[in-house]
Amino acid sequence: MRFARTARAVREHLSQRHRYAHVVRVARFAELLARAHGVEPFRARIAGMLHDLARLYPAERLLRECAERGMPIDAFERAQPVVLHARLGAELAREEFGVEDEGVLSAIRKHTLADAVMSPLDAVVYLADGLEPGRDFADRAELAALALRDLDGAMRAVLASSIAYLLERGLEISPHTQAAARRYGITAPLEERRPA
Ligand SMILES: [Fe+2]
Ligand SMILES: [Fe+2]
Repeated sequence: MRFARTARAVREHLSQRHRYAHVVRVARFAELLARAHGVEPFRARIAGMLHDLARLYPAERLLRECAERGMPIDAFERAQPVVLHARLGAELAREEFGVEDEGVLSAIRKHTLADAVMSPLDAVVYLADGLEPGRDFADRAELAALALRDLDGAMRAVLASSIAYLLERGLEISPHTQAAARRYGITAPLEERRPA
């Protein structure tokens, strides 16, 4: 698969300049992180490029396309169909872009919620999506620098801060994100949520 041709096809698929610019930044940052952590850079770049193929699909389309493919949909996904763009995106990467690399497909699948099992490539793409230079929040640059030095440390920090964000707003935490938090040794914020 030629990268330039993939990039053109992604641009056509996404048909929104803003979203295309995001995936290009994610692809670049994922490649940088990959080089820093001994992950094959091309796999990170391609996963970054393809991670948001279904991001702009409305909820009904996400639910319908997942159902058509016989994909199971859990209660959290039913309540917040936007998160399905990650799992559906992996299917589109396979069907429309011919990606057969299970590691790349896994990274696309886990880029939004993370999961109990996170390979270095999964973590690279998850962090690149959350910390690419177009993201606008206070600790971004600091966390991006941490991600270049310490993949697990950055995963812990980013997961902890997104869980704190969700808790502050009284929002539900996906079972996959909870499992990822446990995998990285985060327990405190989740336990606070349990009723006394
Ligand atoms: Fe996404
Ligand atoms: Fe994204």
